[in-house]
Amino acid sequence: MSASSPTTATGALDGANEKRGLWSSRMAFILAATGSAVGLGNVWKFPYITGENGGGAFVLVYMLCIAAVGLPIMMAEVVIGRRGGRSPVNSIRHITQRDVLSSRWSIVGIIGVLAAFLILSFYSVIGGWAVSYVGTTASGQLTGQSAEAIGALFSNLLADPGTLLLWHTVFMALVMAVVVKGVRAGLERAVSILMPALFVLLLTVVGYAMTTGHFGAGVSFLFKPDFSQLSTSGVLVALGHAFFTLSLGMAIMMAYGSYLPKDISIAKTSITVSLMDTVVALLAGLAIFPIVFANGLEAGAGPGLIFQTLPLAFGHMPMGSLFGSLFFILLIFAAWTSGISLLEPLVEWLEEQKGMNRVRSTLGAGIACWLLGIASILSLNLWSDVAPLGMFAMFEGKTVFDLLDYLTSNILLPLGGLLVAVFTGWFMAKDALQSELSMSATGFNIWYATLRYLAPVAVMIVFVYNLI
Ligand code: TRP
Repeated sequence: MSASSPTTATGALDGANEKRGLWSSRMAFILAATGSAVGLGNVWKFPYITGENGGGAFVLVYMLCIAAVGLPIMMAEVVIGRRGGRSPVNSIRHITQRDVLSSRWSIVGIIGVLAAFLILSFYSVIGGWAVSYVGTTASGQLTGQSAEAIGALFSNLLADPGTLLLWHTVFMALVMAVVVKGVRAGLERAVSILMPALFVLLLTVVGYAMTTGHFGAGVSFLFKPDFSQLSTSGVLVALGHAFFTLSLGMAIMMAYGSYLPKDISIAKTSITVSLMDTVVALLAGLAIFPIVFANGLEAGAGPGLIFQTLPLAFGHMPMGSLFGSLFFILLIFAAWTSGISLLEPLVEWLEEQKGMNRVRSTLGAGIACWLLGIASILSLNLWSDVAPLGMFAMFEGKTVFDLLDYLTSNILLPLGGLLVAVFTGWFMAKDALQSELSMSATGFNIWYATLRYLAPVAVMIVFVYNLI
C-alpha cells in the first residue's frame, strides 16, 4: 500500500486500482490526457472563435480562463479520479459514501455522459470534414488555387449532405473501432508519435505564414488586446472553450486520473497537459491568421475558417499536396484520440449501469451519436434556416449544430466544472486533498483558494451575465 492510501473501512482504493491496472508511467498519463485535450478544439475551433470574437482580448481572456479556472479544475478532476479509483460516476459515489456526503453528487457524472454524447455527435461531423480534406489536398487540386476557388470547394462540401454523411460515418467508425477493443494499449503509442508530428507540421505552416508578408498582422491580431472587440458573450465563449479544449467538465480527466499511480505529481502533470494544449492552439492561430490577412479573407468566417485558409497555404507552398495531406491526416488522428475519449465514458457508463457488454454498449452509443450527427449535417444545408429553440432569445437563429455547440461548451461543461470545483473545494476532506496533491503549503493554498472561490465565482458571474 502506498503512503497516501486511506485506512477507512470503506477505503479499499488500492484494491480497486490494482485490478484496473495503472498507467505505465507519468508520461503515459500525459500522453493520454494530451491525446484527449488536443483535438479539433485547438486547430479548428480555437482559431474560428478567436476570429469571431475579435482576436487579442479574447485570446487573453481565454488564457486567463485556462490558468485560473481550467487548470485548477483539471487538477480537481484528477484528484477525484485517483482518490476514487473507479469510473467517474462510481468514483464520486465512492467518495460520497466514505465522506458521508449526498449521493446526489453523482449528477456530475451524468452531466458528463450527456455532454460527451452531444459533443461527439457534431465532433464526428467536423472530423469528417478533415477526412474529406485528405483526399482534396492529396489530389493536387488545390495547387495554385485562388481563395475564391478554395472557398467554393468548402461551400460545395457543406451543401452536399451525402458526402458529409459518408465522412461522418467513416470518422465515427474509426472511433468505435478503437473503443470496442478497450482503449489504453494502442492509444499511448499512437499519441507519442502523432502529437509531435502534428506539432512539426503546424510549425511548417507557421513557417509558410511567415513568408506571406502578413505575419505581423496575424501576431498583433492574436496578441494585441482590444477590449472594445470583446462582448460579454465572448467571455462566455472563452470560458466554455477553456473547458472544451482541456476536456474538462465531463469527468474524462477523472477517468484517466483513476489510473494514475500515487507517487506522481498531479500539479506538474496537469500543468504540462494544459501548456501543450495551449501551445498547439496558439500555433494554429499563428498559422492561420497571417493567411487570412494576406488573402483578404474574413477572420470571422466561422466554422469553415481552417478549411478555407490552410488549403490556400498548401496550394502555394512547395510540396504542398504532400504537406497538406499529411497535415489533415494528423488532424484526423488528433480528433480521433479526442473522439475516443468522448465515447469511452458513455460506453463505460452503459456497461456499468445497464450491464451491457462492450460490443453492445459501443454499438449502441456509437450509433445513437451517429444518428444525432445527421441532424448537425442537415443543419449545414437543408435545415440551415431551422432554429429548433429559436423561440427563446438566447437560442435565436441557432441551427441544430450551433445549438449543440452552445449547449455543451457554454452550459453543460462549465456547469460540470462548477460542480467539480464545489465538490472538491467545499466537500471533500482537506487532508485527503493535501495527501493526494502533496504540494508545498503555498502551492496547495493557492490551488485551494482558486478552487473554492475564484473558479466557482468566475463561472457563476459569466453564467449570470449571459443566461439571465
Ligand atoms: N478537448 C478536445 C478538443 O479540444 C475535445 C474533447 C475530447 C472534449 N474529450 C472531451 C471536450 C471531453 C470536452 C470534454 O478537441
